[in-house]
Amino acid sequence: MRRTCTLLVMAAALPVWSAQPVRGRHGMVVTRENHATEAGLKILQSGGNAVDAAVAVGFALAVTHSSAGNIGGGGFMLVRMADGRTAFIDFRERAPLSASRNMYLDAAGKATQDSITGYRASGVPGTVRGMEYASRHFGKRPWAELVQPAVDLASKGFVLSYAQANGLKNAGRTLGQFPESKRVFLRGGNFYEPGDLFVQADLGRTLERIARLGATDFYEGETARMLAKDMQEHGGAITMRDLKEYAAIERKPMTGKYKGYDIITSPPPSSGGIGILQMLGVLEGTGYEKGGAGSASVVHYMTEAMRRYFADRAVHLGDPDFVKVPLTSLLNPAYMGRLRASIDPERATPSAEVHAAVLTGHESNETTHYTVADADGNIATVTYTLNGGYGSKVTAAGLGFLLNNEMDDFAADPGHANMFGLIQGEANAIQPRKTPLSSMVPTIVMKDGKPLLALGSPGGPTIINTVLEVMVNVLDFGMNVQDAVDWPRFHHQWMPDTLSMERGYSPDTVAILEKHGYTIRRVAAQGECAAILFENGWLDGAADPRTEGTAKGY
Ligand code: GLY
Repeated sequence: MRRTCTLLVMAAALPVWSAQPVRGRHGMVVTRENHATEAGLKILQSGGNAVDAAVAVGFALAVTHSSAGNIGGGGFMLVRMADGRTAFIDFRERAPLSASRNMYLDAAGKATQDSITGYRASGVPGTVRGMEYASRHFGKRPWAELVQPAVDLASKGFVLSYAQANGLKNAGRTLGQFPESKRVFLRGGNFYEPGDLFVQADLGRTLERIARLGATDFYEGETARMLAKDMQEHGGAITMRDLKEYAAIERKPMTGKYKGYDIITSPPPSSGGIGILQMLGVLEGTGYEKGGAGSASVVHYMTEAMRRYFADRAVHLGDPDFVKVPLTSLLNPAYMGRLRASIDPERATPSAEVHAAVLTGHESNETTHYTVADADGNIATVTYTLNGGYGSKVTAAGLGFLLNNEMDDFAADPGHANMFGLIQGEANAIQPRKTPLSSMVPTIVMKDGKPLLALGSPGGPTIINTVLEVMVNVLDFGMNVQDAVDWPRFHHQWMPDTLSMERGYSPDTVAILEKHGYTIRRVAAQGECAAILFENGWLDGAADPRTEGTAKGY
């Protein structure tokens, strides 16, 4: 910091009353859909641990949160067991064996929509293998017991909420392009209404086989055969061999320190953990927090850290099994010090002065995050996704589940924007079996060897900034976890050089930031955080009021 900032500290976010988290002593489940929250809670109450409950929630959301909950997609689970073991389970989709660098370019070399919609958009799904891996290595209840709540929700049905019914209706045009999706999710065109019972008989049968036969059914059995046949008949890439050879990967979580806290977070192919650690490293030592939560100076310093990280992200990150990700260099204290020193306390740095790669785009909330903790101190924090809302919009014939469009998280056309507006480089180009780069970043914060905070969020590239903001709201601004989740958010991703801010920021704050050179876009909502704070033997659960999410504890 070159000089003390005066003007920038004057204004703050609109006042937020102190909201209360949900408190429990023995277990806590936070998800974005209440049936799934209850499924997880029941598992905890009947003797399951946090990982058992997380597996049950994962399958339940695949039934009740059709736009992002899934068995046709993938994600990340970060686990910390009470005995100190940690694991990052990477069950993200992988590129099929027939995939190639230019598979989404037309004859003129232009990107097609095939990485976004339709049968060719899907990577090999990982969720079922990931849940099985978690259950086998960290759970204690029988597998079938964990899948059963989802079987019941699918085959007996559940009552659709306003948001669930409208979500399906709003996606009607694209879902309706695919007869099987139209039949299953749009009632043949006679849209579901809020309050209708939504029965998914095909999905119920698929889940029942998975409950009985395990992940083998999905990857080698009847489900695999039906999926591969459907793919073959419609020009999709996923084959029986792709499914059979899919494996979840246990990776070592990334770790780092911030002001005496120990951060356990997501390694590549997540771009999020390195982002969180670099941005915290840049902020530490600036004294940025003195402005107070929501002040223009806090937004300014955090935005400058975001801008610098996203410039690095565009160039350097990809699947670590295929490219060398320079983690040490990007987290080198001297490098982070240079980034810190380049922040002018009273002026927005034009992104053009930061780096030469380009990120543009919009956000999407169509991923989902949930967090579970149990009385013994085990934690499972999971972000998983179909990528876009309702994924590729394709429902596997006779199987009842939507397929992902995660191939669009690769640099399908290096140098041109994907559906999140992210322009990425060769490090994230398509190769067979490769994992696309992700922003998902389940994270756990420890203090003095004990868990303090577990959290994550959906939201495409905004995920990383949402998680950072909720973390500093607790760690630097002393908010309770519900206030920290509720607090207005902002996002900058280097390019375009635009700061998006939720409406909770006052006109005064916005005016100060504009005076210092920011171009500001007001947005209705960013992200959907699910967090648990560990406090004096209590588990404080915070669902995000931006959604229908719930926290339930006991
Ligand atoms: N599909 C969104 C992400 O992984 O970042």
